[in-house]
Amino acid sequence: MKVTVVGAGAVGASCAEYIAIKNFASEVVLLDIKEGFAEGKAMDLMQTASLNGFDTKITGVTNDYSKTADSDICVITSGIPRKPGMTREELIGINAGIVKNVSSSLLEHSPNMILIVVSNPMDTMTYLAHKATGLPKNRIIGMGGALDSARFKYRLAEALEAPISDIDGMVIGGHSDTGMVPLTSHATRNSIRVSEFLSEERLEQVAADTKVGGATLTKLLGTSAWYAPGAAVSGMVQAIACDTKKIFPCSTLLDGEYGLSDICIGVPVVLGKNGIERIVDIPLSDAEKAHLQSSAEGVKKTNGLLEV
Ligand code: LAC
Repeated sequence: MKVTVVGAGAVGASCAEYIAIKNFASEVVLLDIKEGFAEGKAMDLMQTASLNGFDTKITGVTNDYSKTADSDICVITSGIPRKPGMTREELIGINAGIVKNVSSSLLEHSPNMILIVVSNPMDTMTYLAHKATGLPKNRIIGMGGALDSARFKYRLAEALEAPISDIDGMVIGGHSDTGMVPLTSHATRNSIRVSEFLSEERLEQVAADTKVGGATLTKLLGTSAWYAPGAAVSGMVQAIACDTKKIFPCSTLLDGEYGLSDICIGVPVVLGKNGIERIVDIPLSDAEKAHLQSSAEGVKKTNGLLEV
């Protein structure tokens, strides 16, 4: 199992690290345009191998796509991250050009790849990757919901004063401050609905904190987060590599599901060896449906800025 991660910045490097630590891939290629940067990150990570107990070989390359040849899974993290006060949508100008070129270069060397898009604005970049590569829709997956759901569970555990392992919950919709749809009515603590423990106001606060999860960190860190994004990608890569059929909310091209078409947006999917094995249509409340609809309108507006 060979995995390529494009972009050796904080998200790309954490992603490579988590994949390696979980020890399911034989090789991770880390590629960056900055001379020597990916090589340095790869060497530093490889020097953790004997300490952290993994055998995955991590190789760093400067913009040499021939070294990514025959990757089973490729991840695009490249592009500029947001600065405090910026929205993900504001990154579109620079990142669209990067994602278009990177996805075409990857495809040239790995025609059978499953592609995971992380660069922001992620739902639009996932849609753009479809236009740039023409890959079947099961093989292009946007990473947003897995991260947003992890942030939702963190906020729920905090509000419930419960261990995170007791919490289940999911965020669907667009990966943006206004587009996320935290499914509070479906969230549970050890199979008991969280509404049994928390007031409506507290749940609304949890949802609001979840939606600005990325912005909160950007303000604290001065740039966007990397540990949870890297862990979310590695979880998705593992589900595909090990064919686990785990459900994650992911950005996927919809064709009528949830009443939406010609858009990539976060909905629950089953991940396995074929990438997106199935889109799971779950019943939503009227409020959640309306929220998903307005989220989709926001994503379509951003897609409209693409020159494709
Ligand atoms: C975040 C970036 C990865 O939400 O979109 O932290």
